[in-house]
Amino acid sequence: MNILFATSEAVPLAKTGGLADVAGALPKALNKRGVDTRVVMPKYDEIPAALIGQFEQVAHFRVSFSWRNQYCGLLRAEFDGVTYYLIDNEHYFKRKGLYGYGDDAERFVFFCFAVMEAVRYMDFHPDIVHCHDWQTGLIPFLLKTRYYYDPAWAYTKSVFTIHNLKYQGLFGIDLLMDLLGVGHDMFQADSLEFNGAGSCMKGGLVYADKLTTVSQTYAEEIQTEYFGEKMDALLRYRSQDLIGIVNGIDDELFDPMNDSTLEVPYRNSLSRKRKNKVELQRELGLPLSEEIPLVGIVSRLVEQKGFDLIAATLEELLQDDVQFVLLGAGDAKYEQFFNDIAYRYPNKFKVWIGYDDRLARRIYAGSDIFAMPSQFEPCGLSQLLALRYRSVPVVRETGGLKDTVQAYNEYTGEGNGFSFAHYNAHDYMHTVRRALALYRDEEVWKQIVSNGSNEDYSWNRSAKAYISVYSQLLAHRKEKESWPVI
Ligand code: ADP
Ligand code: GLC
Repeated sequence: MNILFATSEAVPLAKTGGLADVAGALPKALNKRGVDTRVVMPKYDEIPAALIGQFEQVAHFRVSFSWRNQYCGLLRAEFDGVTYYLIDNEHYFKRKGLYGYGDDAERFVFFCFAVMEAVRYMDFHPDIVHCHDWQTGLIPFLLKTRYYYDPAWAYTKSVFTIHNLKYQGLFGIDLLMDLLGVGHDMFQADSLEFNGAGSCMKGGLVYADKLTTVSQTYAEEIQTEYFGEKMDALLRYRSQDLIGIVNGIDDELFDPMNDSTLEVPYRNSLSRKRKNKVELQRELGLPLSEEIPLVGIVSRLVEQKGFDLIAATLEELLQDDVQFVLLGAGDAKYEQFFNDIAYRYPNKFKVWIGYDDRLARRIYAGSDIFAMPSQFEPCGLSQLLALRYRSVPVVRETGGLKDTVQAYNEYTGEGNGFSFAHYNAHDYMHTVRRALALYRDEEVWKQIVSNGSNEDYSWNRSAKAYISVYSQLLAHRKEKESWPVI
């Protein structure tokens, strides 16, 4: 079975969030199970020079889309047994950061066309092209339209994974028609049109042979109006093809026993873990103490992650005997708010604005409690990393958080964390306070941490679930195609 992952980010090359973790770790897990899985993504300027140095150029060719005709280089390298291909065009990708440019529509339409062309030069015929999020949503569309009879894509099926339904790649219809070289007939309610705009994500949602998302609960939630981001009717229509598979983490890449950013390696010893807390306190200028509970947050600073609840309760919680450490980058309003609190509570609250893999790991290791009260959460990897580093998660019961964190039950002794149901600041605060109270009871705390450490959050289970999705698709691939009609 040959699988080509088309993604806009992947570890170890470029990362802004969990998508990169998944696109880095899942191919590795699939390869280990005998599925030849390769990754194709843009060649960003962000990719570290040491890694770029390991790529060799395989081919260069022109990519025609509509009236445009652009250069495209194809590079190849292998990391950890996984083959990565890079799509090279300096005009589109030699820039700071990954996203957020005025011509993002053109950049990622180019990327989708470039992937369609690059397959001719890969020496690898994908049985399945597995696309991730809106940046690659137009690949399933192209596969069912312009490339439908192309021998390079003969018998290839497509899977589209929704990592976050909120980011849909919406652009003007005129712009997308001009980029794709198609007419109004492709911008109807049953194709790429979405509330008067053109939607790259609909390219995946309408045209992919199978849809997956990153937890079972999110798969159900997005079929409702509240979580559906106005795509719920389409997702209900495609519910037979929509499967929720919870993410895992790369337990080799994230291993407190073998993490060079930590002073003291540990696995289950809380006293060794707490030495890392003291090192984190020292680095950030907090009072040094193994006893005082430290709450960590590592996140994009966006509304999705529950920052309105965190902001509304932080000052009140800081009256308790506790320390908070926050690492994140995102919306300016949250950056300003947290900088201000840090200025006023220098002995209790530290914030680091930016993206920093080293500090993230040190916070997972140094914190006792990890707060993630998301408004919605397709899966969430941070709570899994927290569990891996024996930091007890406090989460809201939504999406993948609901599927991976079980609230501690003091009567049965079960549960690996703390959770609350309603998106409400006081429910969140009460749950943090409950965690803080139980932290003081060493025996109970050990029990909660040990409950978390007994579960397997690696890709073991979920890689099998993906293989079964691929196998189902391939079993039917010679049957006559039917087009989705909404
Ligand atoms: P999302 O993809 O929605 O941002 P996830 O929980 O799935 O959320 O994944 C987030 C990933 O990005 C985790 O690996 C987390 O450690 C990492 N991360 C988030 N913010 C930062 C940051 N500021 N610095 C370093 N790593 C971060
Ligand atoms: C998205 C989601 C997050 C998920 C990640 C990887 O960024 O917000 O919940 O874990 O994708 O699938």
